[in-house]
Amino acid sequence: MEDFIQRIECYRASYMPIDDDKDRKLSYIKIFDVGSRYLVNKIQDHIQSRIVYYLMNIHVTPRSIYLSRHGESELNLTGRIGGDSGLSPRGHKYASALGVFIKSQNINDLKVWTSHMKRTIQTAEAVGVRYEQWKALNEIDAGVCEELTYEEIQEKFPEEFALRDQDKYRYRYPKGESYEDLVHRLEPVIMELERQENVLVICHQAVMRCLLAYFLDKPADQLPYLRCPLHTVLKLTPIAYGCKVESFFLNIEAVNTHRERPENVDVNRNPEEALQTVPDHI
Ligand code: F6P
Repeated sequence: MEDFIQRIECYRASYMPIDDDKDRKLSYIKIFDVGSRYLVNKIQDHIQSRIVYYLMNIHVTPRSIYLSRHGESELNLTGRIGGDSGLSPRGHKYASALGVFIKSQNINDLKVWTSHMKRTIQTAEAVGVRYEQWKALNEIDAGVCEELTYEEIQEKFPEEFALRDQDKYRYRYPKGESYEDLVHRLEPVIMELERQENVLVICHQAVMRCLLAYFLDKPADQLPYLRCPLHTVLKLTPIAYGCKVESFFLNIEAVNTHRERPENVDVNRNPEEALQTVPDHI
């Protein structure tokens, strides 16, 4: 409280209050007592109205957001991306372990969200609580590359594979999506996460990277390479000017699905260079 009052004193030295009469031509929003009342003046365009909408949805009630990928899937085991497979035996074990972990956290009024994909729904089922399905949480659509391994993508579409390595955030799979598309698709989810209190989001590698990047304020070039391993829960707790992150590996082995950016991203590279960082799989 003392720190807060002192901070306001510091602001007084360089800011002046908005005067609702004299400043009536300006665009502004006044927020009273952390959101018990709002005064919105002269909102003129789309961005301004989005800002108002955003500011009216955030809150300061202490809470945590838990992010987890689904348990290891059958397609994860064989190194195939996308698809809609079910969980592997280890994936099922993780889903039960996630249930135990969530119980141990003693969370007040927890909301659980999944995508529309089998592997996240199976994970939530084992957690044993009510959950809500969001289509917007579905994994990135890899278009013509769905259900291929990275090796097969290199073999069938070597140029596409290199183009993705050149700009992974903006690259859009033919007939599919880019990370940038995914960020737009996730906007309503993010807005609702801002409104809610304790939430467990059971999602996918690319989706989890986008959500994590939003809460940790990571730039677009780092976003597609953020580490979101299987069978690991990230607990995000908003604090002043940021988020505390705690990582819990639930002690059930899983395949690694993280492919680092290789050194050579030229379209004329040889297959060995393109496949340099592909993780092991069966
Ligand atoms: O491999 C699992 C997976 O969730 C795929 O379904 C998805 O295409 C991929 O991860 C996203 O990761 P990256 O963008 O690094 O290929």
